[in-house]
Amino acid sequence: MPEDQHYLVGLDLAGRRVVLVGGGTIAQRRLPRLISAGAAVELISPDTTPAVSGMVDAGEVVWHRRRYADGDLDGAWYALACTDDPGVNAAVCAEAERRRIFCVRADAGVEGTAVTAAVGRHEGLVVGVLSGGQPLRSAAVRDNIVEALHTGTVADDITPPDAAELPGVALVGGGPGDPELITVKGRRLLARADVVVADRLAPRELLDELPADVEVVDAAKIPYGRAASQDVINAALIEHAKAGKFVVRLKGGDPYVFGRGFEELLACAEAGVPVTVVPGITSSIAAPAVGGVPVTHRGVAHEVVVVSGHVAPGDERSLTDWSALARLRGTIVLMMGVERLGRFAEALLEGGRPGDTPVAIVENGTMPTQRVHRCTLATAAESARAAGVRPPAVIVIGPVAGLLPDQPR
Ligand SMILES: C[S@@+](CC[C@H](N)C(=O)[O-])C[C@H]1O[C@@H](n2cnc3c(N)ncnc32)[C@H](O)[C@@H]1O
Repeated sequence: MPEDQHYLVGLDLAGRRVVLVGGGTIAQRRLPRLISAGAAVELISPDTTPAVSGMVDAGEVVWHRRRYADGDLDGAWYALACTDDPGVNAAVCAEAERRRIFCVRADAGVEGTAVTAAVGRHEGLVVGVLSGGQPLRSAAVRDNIVEALHTGTVADDITPPDAAELPGVALVGGGPGDPELITVKGRRLLARADVVVADRLAPRELLDELPADVEVVDAAKIPYGRAASQDVINAALIEHAKAGKFVVRLKGGDPYVFGRGFEELLACAEAGVPVTVVPGITSSIAAPAVGGVPVTHRGVAHEVVVVSGHVAPGDERSLTDWSALARLRGTIVLMMGVERLGRFAEALLEGGRPGDTPVAIVENGTMPTQRVHRCTLATAAESARAAGVRPPAVIVIGPVAGLLPDQPR
């Protein structure tokens, strides 16, 4: 296999004139990185794609709405010939050659004097891959390297151990259960943890991937519901962080959606422990989505209310106005609601929500054991009991729960 003979280099394009000829999808792909490098990009093309127009409208690119003409590269530091007309691209490259400006030719890489590397980023690192004209191979290698850096499979020794979030606590939203639904940042920080304090609903498979020397504190073993349990968790976070460890508090879904994440942040802040918050994909939206229920749909639901069912309607601790919820026409997503489903349904029916309102209950959403149970508000409690629905489950109440893929709207 022939070696790529190009000399890989980093250009400082900030404030420098870069001319891109062509306004199609290739321009659309090349422009964002030129813009983020701070280049003074001038685009020459009679027309553009809507995405390119958006960059022009945002003032990120200057657009000369016409065909390329010899002389357009005057004063440029770098040029890209990206039209679908080989003749124009050849002319752009010829002018660039005359003026000694490096030029990429999109339709015939070898004819240009520069080629674009497949580029990926990780924490201030830029990774570039060239492969002698095999763009798919470059992109695949780039993706693998970046993924390995993100997940910590490839060590990033350049990053000092005292980088922004280390030591301290990272409150990481682990997503709804499928280990692939954690964010890239969450996964990267998990790979750096000295101690992981994991919730009962945090994706368990991720814990298997941790090196043997990582201490895992199972927050699920701390008795649920006891007033002291949150204090014990807070104390564990603070104690380990103060001992110089990097602690990941791995939580289910998003840390701030009924996850008590902010209590943990406040406790750490009071103890002088720095906290990085990494949002997660909340089960309130993801479990229905994977179970086939969109929480909004055009012309069907214009609102979504996510409600905690950890206390019953009428309970003095309840902060929810059930009669107001009953008057909504949109979507109610009820979390922690399986046990008292009958009470919630009753409150909504009493407040005027029709009995035939569709209900979808997604149990173990995004996990191999996921089950979706559909019923109506009037029959929900009995029907869920008969079907053996058990927590964790997200209960979706509203017309979206009745949408099925074979009923396009
Ligand atoms: C204490 S709340 C935590 C919610 C979490 N912070 C989030 O954003 O998804 C726990 C409730 O979330 C819901 N839940 C969490 N994971 C779930 C899953 N995989 N499938 C269905 N419901 C889930 C259930 O209603 C469960 O009782």
